[in-house]
Amino acid sequence: MGTNLPLAGKSAFITGASSGIGEAAAEALAAQGADVALVARRKEKLESIAERIESVTGQTAFVLPTDVTDNSAVNEAVAQTVDTFGQLDVLVNNAGIATGSDVTVETIPAEQYRDVMAVNVDGVFFVTQAAIPHLRETSGIAVFVGSFAGQFPRPGAPLYAATKWWTRGFAHSLAGWLGEDEVGVTVINPTEVRTEFGRGYRDQTSKDRFEPNEVTEPEVIGDAIAFAAQQEPPNVVSELDLYRRGKFSHF
Ligand SMILES: NC(=O)c1ccc[n+]([C@@H]2O[C@H](COP(=O)([O-])OP(=O)(O)OC[C@H]3O[C@@H](n4cnc5c(N)ncnc54)[C@H](OP(=O)(O)O)[C@@H]3O)[C@@H](O)[C@H]2O)c1
Repeated sequence: MGTNLPLAGKSAFITGASSGIGEAAAEALAAQGADVALVARRKEKLESIAERIESVTGQTAFVLPTDVTDNSAVNEAVAQTVDTFGQLDVLVNNAGIATGSDVTVETIPAEQYRDVMAVNVDGVFFVTQAAIPHLRETSGIAVFVGSFAGQFPRPGAPLYAATKWWTRGFAHSLAGWLGEDEVGVTVINPTEVRTEFGRGYRDQTSKDRFEPNEVTEPEVIGDAIAFAAQQEPPNVVSELDLYRRGKFSHF
Protein backbone atom coordinates (compact mmCIF):
# COMPACT_ATOMS: atom_id res chain seq x y z
CA MET A 1 0.00 0.00 0.00
CA GLY A 2 1.54 3.34 -1.09
CA THR A 3 1.02 5.81 1.76
CA ASN A 4 2.69 8.61 -0.22
CA LEU A 5 0.37 8.27 -3.18
CA PRO A 6 -2.12 11.10 -3.85
CA LEU A 7 -5.21 8.99 -3.09
CA ALA A 8 -3.77 7.12 -0.10
CA GLY A 9 -6.41 6.63 2.60
CA LYS A 10 -9.25 7.37 0.17
CA SER A 11 -11.92 5.05 -1.14
CA ALA A 12 -13.77 5.00 -4.45
CA PHE A 13 -17.06 3.47 -5.61
CA ILE A 14 -16.96 2.70 -9.33
CA THR A 15 -19.99 1.55 -11.33
CA GLY A 16 -19.50 -0.44 -14.52
CA ALA A 17 -16.19 -1.72 -13.17
CA SER A 18 -16.39 -5.12 -14.90
CA SER A 19 -15.03 -3.84 -18.23
CA GLY A 20 -13.90 -0.89 -20.32
CA ILE A 21 -13.72 2.56 -18.76
CA GLY A 22 -14.86 1.45 -15.29
CA GLU A 23 -12.26 -1.31 -15.11
CA ALA A 24 -9.55 1.11 -16.24
CA ALA A 25 -10.73 3.73 -13.73
CA ALA A 26 -10.56 1.21 -10.89
CA GLU A 27 -7.00 0.28 -11.88
CA ALA A 28 -5.93 3.92 -12.15
CA LEU A 29 -7.53 4.93 -8.85
CA ALA A 30 -5.91 2.01 -7.02
CA ALA A 31 -2.55 2.81 -8.66
CA GLN A 32 -2.86 6.27 -7.06
CA GLY A 33 -3.47 4.70 -3.63
CA ALA A 34 -7.27 4.43 -3.34
CA ASP A 35 -9.15 1.39 -2.10
CA VAL A 36 -11.84 0.57 -4.64
CA ALA A 37 -15.37 -0.84 -4.57
CA LEU A 38 -16.09 -2.53 -7.91
CA VAL A 39 -19.74 -2.43 -8.96
CA ALA A 40 -21.38 -4.21 -11.92
CA ARG A 41 -23.50 -7.32 -12.50
CA ARG A 42 -20.86 -9.85 -13.69
CA LYS A 43 -19.40 -11.22 -10.46
CA GLU A 44 -16.66 -13.40 -12.01
CA LYS A 45 -15.29 -10.52 -14.07
CA LEU A 46 -15.26 -8.26 -11.01
CA GLU A 47 -13.46 -10.95 -9.00
CA SER A 48 -10.66 -11.40 -11.52
CA ILE A 49 -10.24 -7.62 -11.89
CA ALA A 50 -10.14 -7.24 -8.10
CA GLU A 51 -7.52 -9.97 -7.80
CA ARG A 52 -5.33 -8.25 -10.41
CA ILE A 53 -5.73 -4.81 -8.82
CA GLU A 54 -4.87 -6.13 -5.36
CA SER A 55 -1.78 -7.97 -6.57
CA VAL A 56 -0.50 -5.06 -8.68
CA THR A 57 -1.26 -2.16 -6.33
CA GLY A 58 -1.58 -3.65 -2.84
CA GLN A 59 -4.83 -1.73 -2.38
CA THR A 60 -8.10 -3.37 -1.35
CA ALA A 61 -10.53 -4.06 -4.19
CA PHE A 62 -13.99 -4.92 -2.91
CA VAL A 63 -16.38 -6.75 -5.25
CA LEU A 64 -20.05 -5.72 -5.16
CA PRO A 65 -22.15 -7.55 -7.79
CA THR A 66 -24.99 -5.06 -8.17
CA ASP A 67 -27.53 -4.02 -10.78
CA VAL A 68 -27.58 -0.21 -10.70
CA THR A 69 -31.23 -0.18 -11.75
CA ASP A 70 -32.14 -1.82 -8.42
CA ASN A 71 -32.54 1.02 -5.94
CA SER A 72 -32.29 -1.06 -2.77
CA ALA A 73 -29.33 -3.09 -4.07
CA VAL A 74 -27.53 0.19 -4.80
CA ASN A 75 -28.25 1.50 -1.29
CA GLU A 76 -26.89 -1.75 0.14
CA ALA A 77 -23.73 -1.60 -2.01
CA VAL A 78 -22.96 1.97 -0.93
CA ALA A 79 -23.61 1.07 2.72
CA GLN A 80 -21.29 -1.96 2.47
CA THR A 81 -18.57 0.19 0.92
CA VAL A 82 -18.75 2.71 3.76
CA ASP A 83 -18.81 -0.12 6.34
CA THR A 84 -15.74 -1.69 4.75
CA PHE A 85 -13.65 1.42 4.07
CA GLY A 86 -15.03 3.71 6.77
CA GLN A 87 -15.76 6.52 4.30
CA LEU A 88 -16.45 7.35 0.67
CA ASP A 89 -14.29 9.95 -1.09
CA VAL A 90 -14.82 9.29 -4.79
CA LEU A 91 -17.90 8.26 -6.75
CA VAL A 92 -17.48 7.23 -10.38
CA ASN A 93 -20.86 7.10 -12.09
CA ASN A 94 -19.82 5.19 -15.18
CA ALA A 95 -22.16 2.23 -15.88
CA GLY A 96 -23.98 2.79 -19.15
CA ILE A 97 -25.28 0.94 -22.20
CA ALA A 98 -25.88 1.73 -25.86
CA THR A 99 -29.04 1.46 -27.90
CA GLY A 100 -28.91 -0.89 -30.89
CA SER A 101 -27.46 0.49 -34.09
CA ASP A 102 -30.39 -1.02 -36.03
CA VAL A 103 -33.18 0.91 -34.25
CA THR A 104 -34.65 4.36 -34.74
CA VAL A 105 -37.02 6.36 -32.55
CA GLU A 106 -39.85 4.86 -34.60
CA THR A 107 -38.72 1.25 -34.26
CA ILE A 108 -37.03 0.90 -30.86
CA PRO A 109 -38.85 -1.73 -28.80
CA ALA A 110 -40.29 -0.41 -25.52
CA GLU A 111 -38.19 -2.93 -23.58
CA GLN A 112 -34.94 -1.59 -25.06
CA TYR A 113 -36.05 2.00 -24.41
CA ARG A 114 -36.75 1.16 -20.75
CA ASP A 115 -33.51 -0.80 -20.36
CA VAL A 116 -31.32 2.04 -21.62
CA MET A 117 -33.18 4.64 -19.56
CA ALA A 118 -33.00 2.38 -16.49
CA VAL A 119 -29.21 1.99 -16.60
CA ASN A 120 -28.12 5.38 -17.98
CA VAL A 121 -30.62 7.58 -16.10
CA ASP A 122 -32.22 5.74 -13.16
CA GLY A 123 -28.97 3.96 -12.27
CA VAL A 124 -27.00 7.20 -12.22
CA PHE A 125 -29.69 8.77 -10.07
CA PHE A 126 -29.92 5.92 -7.52
CA VAL A 127 -26.15 5.67 -7.14
CA THR A 128 -25.75 9.42 -6.71
CA GLN A 129 -28.61 9.62 -4.22
CA ALA A 130 -27.05 6.88 -2.08
CA ALA A 131 -23.54 8.35 -2.23
CA ILE A 132 -24.26 12.04 -1.54
CA PRO A 133 -24.44 11.91 2.27
CA HIS A 134 -21.06 10.16 2.39
CA LEU A 135 -19.42 12.51 -0.12
CA ARG A 136 -20.56 15.46 2.00
CA GLU A 137 -18.67 14.01 4.96
CA THR A 138 -15.39 13.76 3.04
CA SER A 139 -15.73 16.85 0.80
CA GLY A 140 -15.47 14.19 -1.88
CA ILE A 141 -15.65 14.10 -5.66
CA ALA A 142 -18.39 12.75 -7.93
CA VAL A 143 -17.23 11.91 -11.44
CA PHE A 144 -19.85 11.38 -14.14
CA VAL A 145 -18.96 9.70 -17.42
CA GLY A 146 -20.85 11.69 -20.02
CA SER A 147 -20.08 11.60 -23.73
CA PHE A 148 -19.49 13.61 -26.87
CA ALA A 149 -22.98 12.29 -27.68
CA GLY A 150 -24.28 14.29 -24.72
CA GLN A 151 -22.86 17.54 -26.08
CA PHE A 152 -23.89 17.53 -29.74
CA PRO A 153 -27.04 16.31 -31.50
CA ARG A 154 -26.74 12.62 -32.41
CA PRO A 155 -29.29 11.83 -35.13
CA GLY A 156 -28.19 8.16 -35.28
CA ALA A 157 -28.71 7.47 -31.56
CA PRO A 158 -31.06 10.10 -30.09
CA LEU A 159 -32.14 8.08 -27.08
CA TYR A 160 -28.61 7.17 -26.01
CA ALA A 161 -27.51 10.76 -26.63
CA ALA A 162 -30.39 12.12 -24.56
CA THR A 163 -29.38 9.96 -21.58
CA LYS A 164 -25.94 11.57 -21.74
CA TRP A 165 -27.43 15.09 -22.01
CA TRP A 166 -29.42 14.12 -18.90
CA THR A 167 -26.25 12.97 -17.14
CA ARG A 168 -24.50 16.28 -17.84
CA GLY A 169 -27.53 18.33 -16.85
CA PHE A 170 -27.97 16.40 -13.64
CA ALA A 171 -24.26 16.55 -12.78
CA HIS A 172 -23.92 20.30 -13.37
CA SER A 173 -27.08 21.04 -11.42
CA LEU A 174 -25.82 18.89 -8.56
CA ALA A 175 -22.50 20.74 -8.66
CA GLY A 176 -24.34 23.98 -7.98
CA TRP A 177 -26.12 22.44 -5.04
CA LEU A 178 -23.29 20.40 -3.47
CA GLY A 179 -20.52 22.91 -4.06
CA GLU A 180 -21.41 24.81 -0.88
CA ASP A 181 -20.58 21.62 1.02
CA GLU A 182 -17.25 21.36 -0.80
CA VAL A 183 -18.28 18.31 -2.84
CA GLY A 184 -16.72 18.53 -6.32
CA VAL A 185 -18.42 17.33 -9.51
CA THR A 186 -16.58 16.58 -12.75
CA VAL A 187 -18.14 15.35 -16.00
CA ILE A 188 -15.81 13.55 -18.39
CA ASN A 189 -16.83 13.39 -22.05
CA PRO A 190 -15.04 10.84 -24.22
CA THR A 191 -15.44 10.26 -27.95
CA GLU A 192 -15.18 6.62 -29.15
CA VAL A 193 -13.44 4.35 -26.65
CA ARG A 194 -12.38 0.75 -27.40
CA THR A 195 -14.46 -1.16 -24.82
CA GLU A 196 -17.34 -3.64 -24.68
CA PHE A 197 -19.71 -0.71 -25.41
CA GLY A 198 -22.52 -2.06 -27.61
CA ARG A 199 -22.64 -5.47 -25.89
CA GLY A 200 -26.31 -6.35 -25.61
CA TYR A 201 -28.13 -4.45 -28.33
CA ARG A 202 -25.46 -4.15 -31.05
CA ASP A 203 -23.90 -6.82 -33.29
CA GLN A 204 -20.44 -5.46 -32.55
CA THR A 205 -18.84 -3.92 -29.49
CA SER A 206 -16.42 -1.00 -29.82
CA LYS A 207 -13.61 -3.53 -29.32
CA ASP A 208 -14.89 -5.48 -32.33
CA ARG A 209 -15.23 -2.34 -34.44
CA PHE A 210 -11.90 -0.65 -33.77
CA GLU A 211 -8.28 -1.76 -33.89
CA PRO A 212 -6.04 -0.97 -30.89
CA ASN A 213 -5.29 2.77 -30.78
CA GLU A 214 -7.61 3.52 -33.71
CA VAL A 215 -9.80 5.38 -31.20
CA THR A 216 -9.32 6.12 -27.47
CA GLU A 217 -8.14 3.30 -25.21
CA PRO A 218 -10.07 2.95 -21.91
CA GLU A 219 -6.89 3.49 -19.85
CA VAL A 220 -6.77 7.10 -21.09
CA ILE A 221 -10.22 7.79 -19.66
CA GLY A 222 -9.30 5.85 -16.51
CA ASP A 223 -6.34 8.19 -16.00
CA ALA A 224 -8.59 11.23 -16.51
CA ILE A 225 -10.95 9.87 -13.84
CA ALA A 226 -8.01 9.36 -11.47
CA PHE A 227 -6.95 12.97 -12.14
CA ALA A 228 -10.48 14.19 -11.35
CA ALA A 229 -10.49 12.16 -8.13
CA GLN A 230 -7.39 13.96 -6.86
CA GLN A 231 -8.94 17.44 -6.89
CA GLU A 232 -9.21 19.15 -3.53
CA PRO A 233 -11.47 22.04 -2.47
CA PRO A 234 -12.05 24.85 -3.27
CA ASN A 235 -11.69 24.34 -7.06
CA VAL A 236 -12.89 21.70 -9.49
CA VAL A 237 -12.71 21.03 -13.22
CA SER A 238 -16.41 20.92 -13.99
CA GLU A 239 -16.10 19.31 -17.40
CA LEU A 240 -13.30 17.54 -19.17
CA ASP A 241 -13.71 16.88 -22.91
CA LEU A 242 -11.27 14.14 -23.75
CA TYR A 243 -11.67 13.83 -27.51
CA ARG A 244 -9.75 11.81 -30.04
CA ARG A 245 -7.82 14.43 -32.04
CA GLY A 246 -9.36 13.53 -35.39
CA LYS A 247 -12.94 13.58 -34.13
CA PHE A 248 -13.95 16.85 -35.76
CA SER A 249 -12.45 15.85 -39.11
CA HIS A 250 -15.24 13.27 -39.39
CA PHE A 251 -17.98 15.19 -37.59
N1 LIG B 1 -17.05 3.33 -25.41
C1 LIG B 1 -17.38 4.51 -25.88
O1 LIG B 1 -17.18 4.79 -27.08
C2 LIG B 1 -17.95 5.55 -24.96
C3 LIG B 1 -17.87 6.90 -25.36
C4 LIG B 1 -18.41 7.86 -24.52
C5 LIG B 1 -18.98 7.50 -23.32
N2 LIG B 1 -19.05 6.18 -22.96
C6 LIG B 1 -19.67 5.84 -21.68
O2 LIG B 1 -18.71 5.18 -20.89
C7 LIG B 1 -19.38 4.40 -19.90
C8 LIG B 1 -18.70 3.06 -19.79
O3 LIG B 1 -18.88 2.35 -20.99
P1 LIG B 1 -17.72 1.49 -21.66
O4 LIG B 1 -17.41 2.12 -22.96
O5 LIG B 1 -16.64 1.22 -20.70
O6 LIG B 1 -18.55 0.15 -22.01
P2 LIG B 1 -18.49 -1.32 -21.41
O7 LIG B 1 -17.13 -1.89 -21.54
O8 LIG B 1 -19.63 -2.05 -22.05
O9 LIG B 1 -18.81 -1.11 -19.86
C9 LIG B 1 -20.12 -0.89 -19.39
C10 LIG B 1 -20.15 -1.26 -17.92
O10 LIG B 1 -21.46 -0.96 -17.38
C11 LIG B 1 -21.88 -2.09 -16.63
N3 LIG B 1 -23.33 -2.18 -16.59
C12 LIG B 1 -24.20 -2.26 -17.63
N4 LIG B 1 -25.46 -2.39 -17.16
C13 LIG B 1 -25.38 -2.40 -15.81
C14 LIG B 1 -26.33 -2.54 -14.77
N5 LIG B 1 -27.65 -2.68 -15.01
N6 LIG B 1 -25.90 -2.51 -13.47
C15 LIG B 1 -24.57 -2.38 -13.20
N7 LIG B 1 -23.62 -2.23 -14.14
C16 LIG B 1 -24.04 -2.26 -15.43
C17 LIG B 1 -21.26 -3.30 -17.32
O11 LIG B 1 -21.12 -4.38 -16.42
P3 LIG B 1 -22.07 -5.65 -16.29
O12 LIG B 1 -22.55 -6.02 -17.64
O13 LIG B 1 -21.16 -6.68 -15.66
O14 LIG B 1 -23.17 -5.25 -15.36
C18 LIG B 1 -19.89 -2.74 -17.67
O15 LIG B 1 -19.03 -2.87 -16.57
C19 LIG B 1 -20.85 4.36 -20.32
O16 LIG B 1 -21.60 5.24 -19.51
C20 LIG B 1 -20.82 4.84 -21.75
O17 LIG B 1 -22.03 5.47 -22.11
C21 LIG B 1 -18.53 5.21 -23.75
